[in-house]
Order: sequence, then structure tokens, then C-alpha cells
Amino acid sequence: MIDGKVKINKHLDLNRLPTHIAIIMDGNGRWATSRGLPRNLGHKAGCENLKKIVQHIYDLGIKYATFFTFSTENWKRPKEEIDGIFNIVRDYLNEDVNQFVKRGAKVVVSGEYKKLPDDLVRAIDNIVEKTKDCDKFILNLAINYGGRDEILRGVNKAVESGKKLETQQDFSKLLYSADLPDPDFIIRTSGEMRISNFMLWQMAYSEFYFTKVYWPSFSPKDLQKALIDYQRRDRRFGKV
Ligand code: FPP
Repeated sequence: MIDGKVKINKHLDLNRLPTHIAIIMDGNGRWATSRGLPRNLGHKAGCENLKKIVQHIYDLGIKYATFFTFSTENWKRPKEEIDGIFNIVRDYLNEDVNQFVKRGAKVVVSGEYKKLPDDLVRAIDNIVEKTKDCDKFILNLAINYGGRDEILRGVNKAVESGKKLETQQDFSKLLYSADLPDPDFIIRTSGEMRISNFMLWQMAYSEFYFTKVYWPSFSPKDLQKALIDYQRRDRRFGKV
């Protein structure tokens, strides 16, 4: 996390913010190649931006934030790029662990993270353990995450329990996000208009926002613009 005070747009109502915001950080590669840089510098810039946006979400008082960090489909990328992403995430977690504790921010994970390289698994286990009693802000990192895998895993847990599930909440409790409310607002950067296997069960009533801005360039000001758009929506949850 980094310190920083950002001016609040006068159209943003701080009393009507989403409880849980989820972000698909897309466009790191294109951000880099459009500048003649290697793709991993895009991921590095994406990480710097994640720090900035996490800080801003925290400053706004939004309690839960999920970031799509690495999908089960991202294994199809070149090994060098995958290793680069893992190193960036590992260094971020190791360097910022004390900042999280100081700010009362908890880190949780959605995904099969134990299948990641050992040094990254250690960094994740360390930050999860050190921040487990924090509750001012919850950062959920979706890493080695796939929505369909998560649902399948939940179904298998239900079958193994041998008990019929009575409610939708019973199933929600079998997902990685068991302790998180469903995301109210999902943002995807870079102009792609798809969901790419992200939080499929949890997004039933989420509001969506797509912007052409590449993730490393997505600023706190852009976030506020998205939130103002969110506040103009009429969320009816099936009612009239
Ligand atoms: C999508 O851009 C981004 C990713 C697959 C990786 C996201 C990872 C980070 C931002 C690293 C930092 C994360 C943490 C939690 C510290 P892309 O490569 O698909 O971009 P493209 O579509 O332009 O190629």
C-alpha cells in the first residue's frame, strides 16, 4: 500500500459506495507493447497501479475488494511471462505485509494457490496468517482462480458432505469467497467486454462497468468515474 490523498469528485456520494468491488485488471500487455516495452514491464506497472487503487479503495471506505490476478487459463502464456507475474506478486506481498497489518487490512485468497511456486505459496501463507485478525478492509486476491473450477469444487464438497444443500447461501459457503459478500460492482479495464470465468456464481446481481483504459493507466480518478456511474444505476434485484 502507498500513502496518498486523492481529491474526491463532487458527484461521488461516499454514503452509497459498493460494499464489495471486484476488478479484472486487463491490458497490462497492450499497455507495455504500445510503449515498445516487454510485456512483463506491463505487469510491473499493473502491480504499481494495483497498490495505488487498493489504497484509494481503502481511503474511500469500501470494505471488500477482489482483484483477478491470475486465472486458471493464464497457464497457457509463455513460462517467462508467468514466472514474471508470480515474482511480481510474491515481491508485492513480501514487501507490503507490514503495511497491511498497520492499516488493519486482511488478505484472503480465491483459487488453487497451493499449486503455485513454493516461494509464492510461502508469501501468500505469510500475509494471510499475519493479517488474519484484521478486519478494516479485506483484499481478496483471485490467483490461480477459475469460476467454473470454484463451482465444481463446491459441488464436490457438497457431495462429500453427503448432505443436501437447502439454500443458495449453503452453496456460497462452499466457495473460496465463503466469508465475503457477493461483489456489487465489477470493473474490467482495456475494452474487453467479457467475464473470462470470473466469480460466476457470485456475480448474479453485480453491476458491470467496462472501460477502454488499460489497467496500468486506470487512475483513482477513473475509479471515481466508474463509481459515479454505479451510483446512477437502479439495482432492483428482480423487484419492480
Ligand atoms: C491482464 O493483462 C493481467 C494479468 C493476467 C496479470 C495481472 C497481474 C498483475 C497486475 C500483477 C500484480 C498483481 C498483484 C496482486 C500484485 P494482460 O496481460 O492480459 O494484458 P493484454 O490483454 O493487453 O495482453
